Amino acid sequence: MATPSSPQQALHVACIMDGNGRWARRRGLPRTAGHTAGEEALATVVREASARGIGWLTVFGFSTENWVRPPSEVRHILGLHRKLFGRIDELNANNVRVNWIGRPFDEPGSRTPTTVQKAIRQAIADTRNNTGMVLTVAFDYGSRAEIARAASRAGESGDVNVEAISRQLYDPSLPPVDVLVRTSGETRVSNFLLWQSAGARIYFTECSWPDFGGRELDEAISLARSSVS
Ligand code: FPP
Repeated sequence: MATPSSPQQALHVACIMDGNGRWARRRGLPRTAGHTAGEEALATVVREASARGIGWLTVFGFSTENWVRPPSEVRHILGLHRKLFGRIDELNANNVRVNWIGRPFDEPGSRTPTTVQKAIRQAIADTRNNTGMVLTVAFDYGSRAEIARAASRAGESGDVNVEAISRQLYDPSLPPVDVLVRTSGETRVSNFLLWQSAGARIYFTECSWPDFGGRELDEAISLARSSVS
């Protein structure tokens, strides 16, 4: 598996991309327009994070709880995932490798449509030789389900301890999160990367996700790099 090229570049930034709906409402636009702007902001953040030498960027694209949203909104968000995973030229130009975490497609309860499964597999395959930043999209993801599954699998194969559980996470190669970002003024971690964020700094910002960019990313990075007192 490709890894970022130098240890000092290997900061792991994780983002809960919140506030798309409110961003749209403030502009008198439908919620879907906020998500569209959110996907564009993510494309920008991928470019900016990669240019800053971030090693790992993990984003909460769609949670296991998001399926209860109105079907038209869910369809729109799924379409945006296909759009993001289709940005292959851009991802390759930035040497970004795509990765995914979430409920495995072949497990009971998986609701990921085959079109999205295909887009995820294709993006992973088309970017697999890139050696720069790893962009992990959490899709149909919930952290408690991930940990419960990992603990159960650890139990099946021997002792249940921290190392054994870590080895059974959706992607055991994901390093610990250095800074967890949540936009739009919410101060919750919402079942995202609970295991991986055990020692993370948390950067809460009032900025809505569609407005998040390089300047905000710099704030999060400096928090991640600030020394422990
Ligand atoms: C929160 O906005 C965001 C989501 C539900 C996740 C979807 C994110 C995007 C579409 C951004 C692009 C990302 C990918 C991976 C394609 P919200 O609807 O909860 O906003 P609100 O709290 O203001 O209503």
